[in-house]
Amino acid sequence: MQKNTTQKILITGANGQLGSELADALAAKFGTDNIIITDISIPPNSVQKFKFEKLDVMDFDALVRLVKKYHISQIYHLAAILSAKGENNPKTAWKINMDGLLNVLEVARIFGLDKVFWPSSIAVFGPSSPKNLTPQHSITEPETNYGISKHAGELWCNYYFQKYGVDVRSLRYPGIIGYKSMPGGGTTDYAVEVFHKAVNNEPFICFLEKDMHLPMMFMPDAIKATLQLMDAKKENIKVRTSYNIQGMSFSPEALISEIKKYYPELLATYQPDFRQKIAESWPASIDDKVAKKEWNWKPDFTIKKMVKEMFVQLEIQKKELMKEGVL
Ligand SMILES: NC(=O)c1ccc[n+]([C@@H]2O[C@H](COP(=O)([O-])OP(=O)(O)OC[C@H]3O[C@@H](n4cnc5c(N)ncnc54)[C@H](O)[C@@H]3O)[C@@H](O)[C@H]2O)c1
Repeated sequence: MQKNTTQKILITGANGQLGSELADALAAKFGTDNIIITDISIPPNSVQKFKFEKLDVMDFDALVRLVKKYHISQIYHLAAILSAKGENNPKTAWKINMDGLLNVLEVARIFGLDKVFWPSSIAVFGPSSPKNLTPQHSITEPETNYGISKHAGELWCNYYFQKYGVDVRSLRYPGIIGYKSMPGGGTTDYAVEVFHKAVNNEPFICFLEKDMHLPMMFMPDAIKATLQLMDAKKENIKVRTSYNIQGMSFSPEALISEIKKYYPELLATYQPDFRQKIAESWPASIDDKVAKKEWNWKPDFTIKKMVKEMFVQLEIQKKELMKEGVL
């Protein structure tokens, strides 16, 4: 396949759950040499195929240096402190989430970057938002500092687009489930951990109540939505805060029941902690018809299809690790 080599892409927070998969997808589209991955921590060996630069997103001058050094035309700004981790140190989380985004938006304005991607979250909604099929335009009174930073971030994105013409695009990701990397401290992390417990024949203790329904998405759908949004014609992107998107909605109990079709011996118990309260403040499901209408968003994975694919992939990984003598 002919690669589109006109773009130079910089990813922040690239070692995380999303970045480690998005980098591969962007490399397939733009060529490995055109992807610069950055993070505050050194990447694991497996991602060393990309050029890596250590970058703290709060360091504006360092970001400017990299944009100049590599003639960057697009930034995928993923560095953030997630919902559960953010509650442990609200001020630091706010600083990283807000200063990081403002630095990226400023750099995009000053250097006239082609496009910026920045993920928001369903955490922008709060207890006063409609619980089921929460609409695109709804009450946004988040109760977590993570949600407050995402809500403020959405408004900043809209501001930079309206005032300076920065083509920044955003999705309100739901909880993302993938098999390649572990999640980084969110309220939906249980939905990844449970698969690893099942494959390793270990008991699973769920930190949410069994009937806690939340909006979720399989990683391939999250990657597909991101690429599709970034590919869409500028005039089709009418929402310049952030788009609602959803793949599926389920509770821990429903996920575990699906997993037990493959691992009937999985022992699951429930010990809700502080994350239960965060989850209770979020929607149970999301209405994403605006994204469907404006840029043809359509998820591929149902819960059944996702669980099947997760186990196919995790079993392959397990066999490879056993072959390498790691397990
Ligand atoms: N994973 C999800 O379920 C989910 C859901 C909704 C939104 N999101 C959003 O998607 C984005 C990526 O999420 P993720 O799941 O990959 O997160 P993650 O926690 O797995 O990864 C975040 C990365 O950011 C890096 N980082 C932290 N502070 C930094 C700093 N000061 N400078 C540079 N890098 C720094 C971390 O080292 C980490 O590698 C975030 O904006 C997050 O809010 C994720």
